[in-house]
Amino acid sequence: MSVKKILLFGFFAVFVLSKSLADEGMWMPNLLEKRQVDMQNKGLKISANDIYHEIQPSLKDAVVRFGTGCSGSFISKEGLVLTNYHCGYGQIQALSSVQNDYLQHGFWAKNRHEELPCAGLTVSMVVRTIDVTDAVKAGTTAGMSELEAAEIRRRNTRDLIDEIEKQTEYKAEVRAFFGGNQFYLYLTETFEDVRLVGTPPSSIGKFGGDVDNWTWPRHTGDFALFRVYADPNNKPAKYSPNNVPYQPKKHFKISLNGAQENEFTWIFGYPGRTNLYLTSFGIRQITEIENPIAIHARTKRLDIIRPAMEQDQKTRIQYSAKAAGISNAWKRWQGENYGIQRVDGIAKKEGYEKRFQEWANTFNNGQYRDLLSELKTAYDEMEPLLIQNTIFNEHVLSPEIVNFVNQFVPLIKSSSDKNFPTATFNAVLSRVKGLVTPFFKDFNVDIDKQIFKALSTVEIDCEQVRFIDFPDKNFDKYVDEMYAKSIFTNEKKLNDALRKSKKSNVGKVFGNDPLYVYVNQIFSMYNAMISPALREQRALIDVLQRTYMQAQMEMESDRMFFPDANSTIRIAYGKVEGLTPSDAVTYRFQTTLSGLMAKENPEIFEFTINDKLRDLYNNKDFGVYANAKGEMPICFIASNHTIGGNSGSPVLNGNGDMIGINFDRAWEGTMSGFMFDPKLCRNISVDVRFILFIIDKFAESNHIMAELEVVK
Ligand code: ARG
Ligand code: GLU
Repeated sequence: MSVKKILLFGFFAVFVLSKSLADEGMWMPNLLEKRQVDMQNKGLKISANDIYHEIQPSLKDAVVRFGTGCSGSFISKEGLVLTNYHCGYGQIQALSSVQNDYLQHGFWAKNRHEELPCAGLTVSMVVRTIDVTDAVKAGTTAGMSELEAAEIRRRNTRDLIDEIEKQTEYKAEVRAFFGGNQFYLYLTETFEDVRLVGTPPSSIGKFGGDVDNWTWPRHTGDFALFRVYADPNNKPAKYSPNNVPYQPKKHFKISLNGAQENEFTWIFGYPGRTNLYLTSFGIRQITEIENPIAIHARTKRLDIIRPAMEQDQKTRIQYSAKAAGISNAWKRWQGENYGIQRVDGIAKKEGYEKRFQEWANTFNNGQYRDLLSELKTAYDEMEPLLIQNTIFNEHVLSPEIVNFVNQFVPLIKSSSDKNFPTATFNAVLSRVKGLVTPFFKDFNVDIDKQIFKALSTVEIDCEQVRFIDFPDKNFDKYVDEMYAKSIFTNEKKLNDALRKSKKSNVGKVFGNDPLYVYVNQIFSMYNAMISPALREQRALIDVLQRTYMQAQMEMESDRMFFPDANSTIRIAYGKVEGLTPSDAVTYRFQTTLSGLMAKENPEIFEFTINDKLRDLYNNKDFGVYANAKGEMPICFIASNHTIGGNSGSPVLNGNGDMIGINFDRAWEGTMSGFMFDPKLCRNISVDVRFILFIIDKFAESNHIMAELEVVK
């Protein structure tokens, strides 16, 4: 190839690269200045300092981590938090009873006194972000073994946290970035008195259910309102009737314009985990090994649970949250596999690796020359372990009784352990006693037995993979007997046995229980044969991947990299836009209430429509919330790079005013945790106008409306 051609190719590659990275990115808000020009060119009208500032109040003070896996935001001076219905679902369900079925009817506190405390729910905010890379790495050297280096980093991290927590009232946590090449410390403030303020019925908050999940067009009003309470000094405090609404440093204004097609938009929240810098080997292992095993297992599980839910209302209530959880990841894995295949993801990665190898062959005396082949070998060696691990998690652990019994194992074993203190025994006993009622409330033994029979032995490539020796013949009978003889499948017998349990006799009472014996056996096997070896192999890959990350950054020294999501606060930006998912098919950017009405099907639980909502629709009683065409908008899509954990994140316009809250991604782009394609990847949000419409017209909650700062 002539020099000219090589140059031409080089230029072309750079051009294509920077273009295809158009809307990719989950940026750290403390480093947003580097993105400010690009964001402002695209439509941001405020500055990086308005968004993130450690002294002045800034929009970051209005963004919260909601619970453990979601995001949310303050939307009033009085600590009102807006997040997704599905993020509060567990709490709303726990607060519900037959008399007060908030799932069915929704809930709207008429005043502060009626707001419902949510046990265990937390809301937290970032106060400061500090680069602690040097401090964490201090004392590690290039020649050191990874084990040694990791130990030093662990010690440094602990010392850092101890030291800083002594100086402030805040909590400190250190997170690794770029695969462990950089480290940041976050100072956070966590509030524990959080109360439910308002939620639509599930026929709005979860409209379309698992059927519509991960797809566009969507008509789900996936939002709920909570309030954070603080002590009289505005500081975190345990629940107390004397607590007062927390006064955030900043809250979001809500734009009555909602989301307008093609406008600049950005999102501020806590994305969980992405793997955007993985090798083709890594992606292949996920899409060809892990995902298919897990999808197959969950298909079998859902095929048992779903018909049972349809047949019986009690079962439906018992299994709705569990089925939603099983189905959510099951569907996403399928979307990921489809998306990666669709964009030719593995071939793209291979192309990149080819370029990398050419560069690595000569760069710095071939420092990274063997990196890719070492990574490949490490993945190959991990494969059998990964298969076993996935089977263990998705098959062997799928009967609920298995995890339930496993929680009793330490207690039962302690009987024969002289050194096990009686006080600890009693503490463990009282903890496990508390597990019994909630477990049986949502447990159907016949469903669980069917799952056990269908999933506990696995055939892969004509080979039976099993963790312990089951009898070959009469397997079903064996399972029936195990469930019949065990104390753990009978709430009354179990409670009786626990009531009589003492450290001296618990081993005798439970030691021969067939389910205990089984569970003990499979976990012993897993803990001996699979988990340590897998952990070791993963650690090896982590080190290689960290080097590969560093090397990619050296190779593409002009590219602005963002670190993979790691549950820390991030910003992504793009625009409100439709989607062309396939030939001749175009999706509009927005859905409306008429589309929700058109999906009505009283026969299917997920598609029933609330009477009051129907009346509002029939009377076109949309108040000031309709769009320019007089329609009531519900959801919209945009090209913001998001992932699980971004649920509940505020979606904002150029002024930093709220236009929606994020809750999902469109099917064609669910691979965006591995590969972002600006043509296919869209996040799905509820338009704020629908949220206002529900609060104002549907719930008639004037006092909540009065708290909000609604702007044009
Ligand atoms: N897919 C969204 C997310 O990953 C929404 C899940 C809740 N909705 C449901 N139908 N399961 O969390
Ligand atoms: N529903 C997801 C969540 O709970 C957000 C959708 C996604 O994965 O992007 O965080």
